[in-house]
Amino acid sequence: MGIQQQRQDTIAALVAPGKGILAADESSPTIAKRFATIAVESTEANRREYRSLLFATPRLGDSISGVILFEETLGQNDDDGTPLPQRLVQQGIVPGIKVDKGKGPLANAPGDEITRGLDGLEKRLEGYLQQGARFAKWRCVYHIGGHNPGPLAVKANAEVLASYAAICQSLGMVPIVEPEVLIDGDHDWERCAQVSETVLHEVFHTLHRHRVELETMILKPSMVTPGKDHPQATTAEQVAEHTLRVFRRVVPAAVPGINFLSGGQGPEEATVNLNAINQASHRPWTLSFSYGRALQEPALAAWGGHHDHREVAQQALLHRARMNALATTGEYRT
Ligand code: 13P
Repeated sequence: MGIQQQRQDTIAALVAPGKGILAADESSPTIAKRFATIAVESTEANRREYRSLLFATPRLGDSISGVILFEETLGQNDDDGTPLPQRLVQQGIVPGIKVDKGKGPLANAPGDEITRGLDGLEKRLEGYLQQGARFAKWRCVYHIGGHNPGPLAVKANAEVLASYAAICQSLGMVPIVEPEVLIDGDHDWERCAQVSETVLHEVFHTLHRHRVELETMILKPSMVTPGKDHPQATTAEQVAEHTLRVFRRVVPAAVPGINFLSGGQGPEEATVNLNAINQASHRPWTLSFSYGRALQEPALAAWGGHHDHREVAQQALLHRARMNALATTGEYRT
């Protein structure tokens, strides 16, 4: 199969109507933080048990089109010896892989960060393809503050996102491009909208310069909301209105799918907001989810590290996945 056909098949599977993506690609320090909330130690065995129970959830493939894995998970097996990526394929789910190496300070740009991992990326992707990954994810973050993000951070992060996306496509992988405008802070709607518009405009300009094929990529952005410490209450309709206003201006209609991150929104809140977005008019893209915490929090709590809680954890995951699948068509009701 040709490289382009591979990308087309993968994108068609990922943006299937009524489905979304499960982000289960927490890095080692992040999964340790999540496990700490249920007093479970983050050992290789516990991570394998937790993630294999998630992926074995019966009928998960009805509402989940793809799962983003962390490198370690790509090489782990289920209890019966089935490699976890293969377990997903058996569920009709496309396995993907987080490929960035995390973020750190951006020199000469106080308060801003840059994401690393371009060195040797091509070689790593070849290995991930052999292990069954068909799409990739790279996350850049933008802090909102008095002077952040500055123009250097906006440009430098767009460059790495576009370089990564071009490399993925050259090997037949679909890139998820994730510019996350962080929810931390006390900024208002307008400030989040202004930063989101600037960031996305620069990202798409740079994707164009790197000749990234928009038709075989996915955008994974944050929704436009006030900062989490802003006192004003918000409604889902306001989130939908502000988010779509920004996106209509700067996200080309050729992008097939926008899969939002949950970014600190609660499980129910993330569903309700996505639902409102899908009830609005003038949406040229498929608008879905690529949630980590908002899909996993109830399942993680239900599991609590107990082997015999496996099924109730799976039910909790399936419930959130189904509710979010309904929200992709605006049919979720509280
Ligand atoms: P959250 O939905 O928990 O923000 O995670 C999504 C993700 O993949 C962040 O990179």
